[in-house]
This record gives sequence, structure tokens and C-alpha cells, in this order.
Amino acid sequence: MLKDMTETNNVLVCVAWPYANGPRHIGHVAGFGVPSDVFARYQRMSGANVLMVSGTDEHGTPLLVQADKEGVTVQDLADRYNRQIVEDLAGLGLSYDLFTRTTTRNHYAVVQELFTGLYENGYMIKETTLGAVSPSTGRTLPDRYIEGTCPICGATDARGDQCDDCGNQLDPSELIDPRSKIDGEAPKFVETEHFLLDLPSLAQALREWLEARQDWRPNVLQFSLNLLDDMRPRAMTRDIDWGVPVPVDGWQDNNAKKLYVWFDAVIGYLSASIEWAHRTGDDDAWKTWWQDPATQSFYFMGKDNITFHSQIWPAELLGYAGKGTKGGKAHEYGDLNLPTEVVSSEFLTMSGSKFSSSKGVVIYVKDFLAEFGPDPLRYFIAVAGPENHDTDFTWDEFVRRINNELANGWGNLVNRTVSMAHKNFGEVPAAGELTDADRKILALAEETFTTAGENLAAAKFKNAISAIMHLVGEANAYIAEMEPWKLAKAEADRERLGTVLHTALQVVADANTMLTPFLPHTAQKVHETLGRDGVWAALPEVKEVVDDAPVEPVGAGLPDPGQSYPVITGDYTVEQARWERTEVVAGTELSKPKPLVAKLDPELAETGPEWAPVQK
Ligand code: MF3
Ligand code: ZN
Repeated sequence: MLKDMTETNNVLVCVAWPYANGPRHIGHVAGFGVPSDVFARYQRMSGANVLMVSGTDEHGTPLLVQADKEGVTVQDLADRYNRQIVEDLAGLGLSYDLFTRTTTRNHYAVVQELFTGLYENGYMIKETTLGAVSPSTGRTLPDRYIEGTCPICGATDARGDQCDDCGNQLDPSELIDPRSKIDGEAPKFVETEHFLLDLPSLAQALREWLEARQDWRPNVLQFSLNLLDDMRPRAMTRDIDWGVPVPVDGWQDNNAKKLYVWFDAVIGYLSASIEWAHRTGDDDAWKTWWQDPATQSFYFMGKDNITFHSQIWPAELLGYAGKGTKGGKAHEYGDLNLPTEVVSSEFLTMSGSKFSSSKGVVIYVKDFLAEFGPDPLRYFIAVAGPENHDTDFTWDEFVRRINNELANGWGNLVNRTVSMAHKNFGEVPAAGELTDADRKILALAEETFTTAGENLAAAKFKNAISAIMHLVGEANAYIAEMEPWKLAKAEADRERLGTVLHTALQVVADANTMLTPFLPHTAQKVHETLGRDGVWAALPEVKEVVDDAPVEPVGAGLPDPGQSYPVITGDYTVEQARWERTEVVAGTELSKPKPLVAKLDPELAETGPEWAPVQK
């Protein structure tokens, strides 16, 4: 639950790290990107001190598989898609304080510190396990190269690391009828040594933490509690030559063994916070978001990531702090906060199949942005996205929602209100005495700040935007009823005309404030249309930085010092938007408004665009 807003309110927003194995499709950003940004923007508008971090996830077999497919080195692949994803996410206006990548020396050093803390506290146990090898080439087969039938739900296309159908994590040796993705042959399992995270010794601490999480979305909480019934040690190293070296004597220089991608990726939230602090010039600034128990942390992701955020990551944090049955002590970074809430969405599908580049059913963010701009997609995701259940994206629904709700509903309200005020007064008119109808619509706007705000604080985005769009509908009805165009015809009605338009402009300003987290680009335009200036909703920027943190990761195959890479960052303190009414001021000059939302060609509903045609 939210705390009293009068005290300093620090909120850490952690957004799942997309694999740098391809450009992002709209299914990805529907699950984690847009919801987390709406949440972060709302929190900032409510006076919270927000730190929002993420980056590209660049290790693991998803990248190896794609590099093989494209015939390039995995480093080149990661560099290219890191840049592409940065462009995609910045183009959507996602307001990260830092969006970085996992192939930085800083990330390697932070991951190795976490591993070392866990190891010294006794939560990393060395065991001989079974690893998959290709019988024909003798090469080890990483998890994602193996497919088979899920032993838990029976899905026939489970991968060696997890099953997308039931969301459970798997070991390749558990798959029924395992086969190699490369050539279809059945792998051979041979003995190999690995470090396992000792989950059983952390189970009690995990259970205590989870059982206190009563306010989570029920599906996430239930899923996470169920995981407690199956706490086995999990391998946190892999026979693979791409990843963070295992910081143990005899292991770190062995380029054929690396830390498991999920061990390192979740640590990205911490390493990105540490990198962010370094880049602000105050190396300790991250501590506010990780060590202060009053700080809240919210994690946003698709449902296939829940296990790693409600089990693996908290277990890493608990073990690092010495809080399992084996005891131990807190290491260099201290006692770190566990997630306040794991917010997970379901999948966005297209005609029933999960968005998946491998299955060729895909709509890329890049194409979408080039044709429609960011806010129509942000709107669609907020109002019709997979918040509570899998949701099918159709061009038909997209066109309907943009044309009926965004263009005819919101765009039209702004346009006609400002046009009439401009034409009749050239400025915001003064209000005379208010009637019941005026007071009623103003009161609804005020109530909507409360209802929508409560829903946003609880990450209930659909409820929030429905309340705001309800207000927009009522405002349009108010204008239809007051008929200001008739009032404009008689000089005697001039004062009443001013009152109606003043009232309508106030409601437009209020609705715009509330739509700001959802539609930051449009909100900035409406702000200017209302005759105001300055930054209303801040947008992120892409900056080129150098990997220059003063850290010394150890082992073979480290990122080059001094590499340059793009990050998303921004100064969000300059924005004026606050979650409250800003009074419109009589006398503020208005100019003729430009159309706010472009209407889509209705034919698009049937055909789809050229780059993602509707399949008949
Ligand atoms: N790369 C993962 C995926 O796309 C998500 C990683 S989230 C992190 O499913 F927290 F682990 F980084
Ligand atoms: Zn399954």
C-alpha cells in the first residue's frame, strides 16, 4: 500500500530487461515497457522520487541462437540490437533514468560481488549435474537449444530453460523427448560441474516474505506461492563461453563456464542503479533506493518472468544478506531491499498465437512508431493491453479505439473547446456565476483525480484510463448540452458563453493532466494549445556514454574498458505536470488549435499496414 505522500517517497521502478536478440515487437512493450512508464510518470507527478532502471539483457542462449542464425559474432549482434532497442524504447517516450546493458564492466563487477557474497555465505553449492551434449559434434548444447515436452504441463514446445505455456523453469534433463533445435537429434547427457543456488535453505525466508505480500495481483501471488512447494537447488552456471565469468579460483579463467544469464540479468536492476549513481557524480546515490527500508520497489514484466523475480532474485538478495538457514553476513552492498511488488502482465497475441519473432507473427515497434507515432500505441496498450489476461491485438480494434476514443473523444474535445474560446475571445474567458451543470462536470473532474490516481498507484491501468475517458465523454456531453455555438450568436449570452468555455477548458486541462502518464507527447501539445509554455511532460533522451566505472571484474572474456554505448536517460525534474488541478487562468492567450490526433483510414482495419498485413 502507498505511504503517506507527505513524507519523502522513494520509488524504484524496475523494468524487465529485453534480450538484445532482435528488435522489439509490440508484445514486448505491452507487457513491461508502457505499463512501467505510466506508473513511473504517475509516481513522479504525485511527488515521488523515482528511479527507473533497465537495459538490454545480452547474455544467454537467446543471443547465441540468433548470432548463429545471422552468422555474426554474438558481440556484434548484442551491439546492434542494443542500439535498435534503445531507439525503440526512447521513441515510445519511456522515461528511464538509466537504460543500459548487461555487457558493461560495471555490471560484471556487481554480478561477481553478488555471487561472491552468496558463495561465502554458503548458498552456492558445487555439484556434478547432467549437461546436454550434441552426440554428433560433441559440443555442449545450451538450454535454449533444446526443446521437448514440458514435464509439468505437457506442452510440446517447452525449452530447456523454461516452458512458456506454464511459466515454470526447467532443466534440460527434465524435458520429455528432448531434441536439439539445431538438427533435431536427441542430446546426450554427460556429467559436468556447476554451482547451484541453494534454494531449499532460503525457502523459509522466501515464504515469510511472500506471505506478507497480500496486495499483489492474485495471479502473481498464487503463482509465486506455488513455487515454494518445489524448492530445489538450481544451477547458476552454464557450459557456455558467453557471459559473466564465475569469480572462483579455477573457474574464472575457464572461458567455457559462465554464470547463467538469469543469475546475472536480475542483478541488472542493482548494477544499473549503481551505474546511474556513478553517472550523476554521486557514487552513493543508489543506496537510497536499495538500502532504505521505506523505499518501495515495483518490478514490471511479462508472466514468463515471474519465477525469476519472485523466487530467484529475492533468493539471491536474501542469501547475499545472510538471511537463509545457513546464516552468513551482509556483504559490501549491505542489506538490500526485496521487491515491494512484482507486477506482471499476460501476453499480447495476434490472432491467438503469442507474439513471437520465431513464429513470424510480429509487429515491430519501429514500424509502428514510424507510421503512427508513440501515443496511439501507448493508448492502445493502456486501454486494451494484456493487463489481466492474454489479449489479441487486431488492426480492427486498434483503428476503432484510436478513431472513436482518441480522435473523436479526446482530440475533438480539445479541438472544439479551444477553437470556440479562440474564435470568440482570443483567450481563456473569465467565468461568471456557475450553474449546477458547470459545478457537476468540475466536480467529476476532481473526483477522477482520486479514482484514477488510486488505480494508477495500484498499477490498475485499465481502470484508471477508463475513469479518465469517462470524464472526457461527460465533458463532450456537457458541451453538447450547453450548446456554446448557440450562445455565441447573441451578445446577451456572452457572459454565459465565457462561463461554459472556461469550465470546459478547465476540464480539458484536468483530463490532460490525468492523461499525461499515458500520452506524454500529446499532453505536451495540449499544454501548449492551452496557451501555456515550458516542459509539461519530460521525454527521455539517448546519450552516448563510455564504460568507465572504477571497477575491476575478474576472469576471462570481460567487456573492453572504454567501450562506448547508447543509454536512455533524462532530466525529469524539469517537468511541470503534477497530479492535481492546475487552474486555467482567464486572459491566457489562445491560438487556433492544430488537430491533435490523426484519424486512421478505416480501411486499415481490414487490410492492416503493408509491413504487417492482416492474414486472411
Ligand atoms: N530477457 C528476459 C526476457 O526477455 C527478461 C530479463 S528481466 C531481468 O524474458 F530482470 F532478468 F533482467
Ligand atoms: Zn509447461
